[in-house]
Amino acid sequence: MNVDAAVPVPAGGPNLREVGMRRSLRRVFALGVAAAVVAVPACSSSSNNSNDNSGGNNNGASKVEVFSWWTGPGEEDGLNAMISDFKSKNSGVEFINAAVSGGAGSNAKAILAGRLQSGDPPDSYQRHAGLELQDDIKAGKVQDLTYLYDQEKWKDIFPQGLIDNLTIDGKIYSVPVNIHRSNLLYYNPAVLSAAGISGPPKTWAEFLTQAETLKNAGKTAISIGPGWTQKHLLENVLLGELGADEYEDLWNGKLDWTSGEVTGALETYKKVLSYSDISSASADWQPALDKLIDGAAAYNVMGDWADAYLSGTKKLTYKQDYGVVPTPGSEGVYNFLSDTFTLPVGAKNKAAAEKWLIECGSKAGQDAFNPKKGSVPARKDADKALYKGYLADALAEWQDSSTRIVGSLAHGVVANNAWNAEIDTALGLFVGDGDVAKFASSVKKSYEATK
Ligand code: GAL
Repeated sequence: MNVDAAVPVPAGGPNLREVGMRRSLRRVFALGVAAAVVAVPACSSSSNNSNDNSGGNNNGASKVEVFSWWTGPGEEDGLNAMISDFKSKNSGVEFINAAVSGGAGSNAKAILAGRLQSGDPPDSYQRHAGLELQDDIKAGKVQDLTYLYDQEKWKDIFPQGLIDNLTIDGKIYSVPVNIHRSNLLYYNPAVLSAAGISGPPKTWAEFLTQAETLKNAGKTAISIGPGWTQKHLLENVLLGELGADEYEDLWNGKLDWTSGEVTGALETYKKVLSYSDISSASADWQPALDKLIDGAAAYNVMGDWADAYLSGTKKLTYKQDYGVVPTPGSEGVYNFLSDTFTLPVGAKNKAAAEKWLIECGSKAGQDAFNPKKGSVPARKDADKALYKGYLADALAEWQDSSTRIVGSLAHGVVANNAWNAEIDTALGLFVGDGDVAKFASSVKKSYEATK
């Protein structure tokens, strides 16, 4: 099988075929091409689907329980906007919001795993596109949604490369609501100018020089939160130091984690962390951003959901009260992740869950959700006028065919769940002991053990 088979470039949207993938996902690209020739009959009603699990509960149409981790400021506004559009179209359906707090699903994922294991799935749950979802597909946890894609004509609406991230053996298992960007450096312009710094750094080496200046000025150069935010920072230091090609090779086994290049990048990460407030790390990403807003810290690396927090929740003005640029060394690169919703096997309210999924994939739903969530729509036909400030720039860059796309580690795209969990453990030790060689060899070993 030709694993590098070209995936057609979708009109009006970027080509995701370059997204960094491990071998299994590269295989999926080829399978995705094959899938295009497999005719799947359109199905207008859920009752024709052999996986109907509505269990006679009023035909599963009267309520829907949706599981996510969008509870905090800057997160729940987007969800609420989509729920309200859903309710306006489905007045007879009770919406049960089963969101569990904790950025990046830090609490939600474990609770969800327990529910799936005990045969008590919600009717739809949030999963990242990429290898995180692929694990669920392979484990038989989610139902094939190809019939909904045919019914709603989504195959022409979402970029092919994104659909490939949701597909195994030509069957599509999830509905994407957005595209987020991981590689963003937020900064407080007033803190920079007070320290005599003219602008954000273009390289991590320049960041380290600035960090020393900021430290001498009594500022935290970069604020940090819990483990997942440390991993989020790690992926973006690696991206900036290694470049997009080698960054992708970290995840597909081609680049040796114990090589000089990678350990050099890890040394840089260690130095960056030494200028952070890790000894008094914030409990989540919002309080880490608060330190930037308060002027205690100059920088924070976070995804674009932080823009929704700063501009929406905190009512700050982009380019005036705060700035956002690509993380050092990653200009022209979009380190992407995508939130998607599934139909779990055993969902009790399948008919209502399908309505929710239709909402998630709809133009109205995405244009209600994304401007508030701080993401750009997964659909190619969004109403551009709705995306303002930072998001207008983000949408233009996402849709620019010269933008290079890679996938996020911390948000489920490039590493399967087993490897990601091993990286979490190793990283927890690394931020404590700073042993680069030990961290690199442990990540290398766990890749081999989990692939
Ligand atoms: C990501 C998720 C985003 C945002 C972020 C912070 O994993 O994809 O939508 O919620 O976590 O919680």
